[in-house]
Amino acid sequence: MSAKIDIGAEERVFVLTGAGISAESGLPTFRDSNGLWSGHRVDEVATPEAWKKNPELVWRFYSMRRREAMQAVPNPAHHALAVLESRLGQNFFLCTQNVDDLHERAGSRNLLHMHGELFSSRCEDDCGEPVFPDQNLYESESVIPRCKCGARLRPHIVWFGECPLGMDRIMHEIDRCHVMIVIGTSGNVHPAASFVHWARQRGPWVRTYYVGPELPANAAAFTEVIQGRAGEVLPDCLREK
Ligand code: OAD
Ligand code: ZN
Repeated sequence: MSAKIDIGAEERVFVLTGAGISAESGLPTFRDSNGLWSGHRVDEVATPEAWKKNPELVWRFYSMRRREAMQAVPNPAHHALAVLESRLGQNFFLCTQNVDDLHERAGSRNLLHMHGELFSSRCEDDCGEPVFPDQNLYESESVIPRCKCGARLRPHIVWFGECPLGMDRIMHEIDRCHVMIVIGTSGNVHPAASFVHWARQRGPWVRTYYVGPELPANAAAFTEVIQGRAGEVLPDCLREK
């Protein structure tokens, strides 16, 4: 039986997830693929420079990740968070570093993708056309989709060197949470890895939990570390008393 994460009836909960929560759905994590993403180095496919140099390769890479994510299904950890949200309502906020849509498909609604979304695209020139849902695969050399303004469409992903999305909302939610639960992230990438520190700085009454099979780089900052695979331990951790 895993440790319990007790949440009071009026307490606000901030959840941060990383690639680890999708591992049991079959989507590889970044560190497990030792820096290679399906055979591509990060700097070949996930930087603004890569986009300038070889947009076709970038679209082939994200099309392949779209294909993989379409074939994946939410696991019990995704569902456990959706159940917790239905219990807590507006006192629940989920920030994910993941770009897959498994949280949505499990039923999570009050959710923010701070590193973008795999199934959305946008104009590379930010001409004012909105980000839009896009499940298309752009895999052939010649097909680079175009915006109405004529510029190329790019994946709505935060590349290395670009600013994470929604930081004002994230800071606001950290500033008012009573409990922070961090799941499946190595704690190597900022600003996400600092969220637990920001929460702790507010005072000793904020309780912070980490759930994952290995200690994250920021393990010392957590009130409690619950070691285990999220799909196996999270449903028990969050089960109502
Ligand atoms: P990482 O690959 O760095 O870390 C994945 C974490 O998940 C590791 O700490 C594993 O121990 C843990 N893990 C593995 N299997 C798990 C399971 N079944 N249950 C729970 N945890 C498990 O991925 P992230 O920390 O999410 O940024 O990476 C953060 C960011 O770095 C990504 O969003 C991406 C990458 O560069 C951008 O794309 C901008
Ligand atoms: Zn445009």
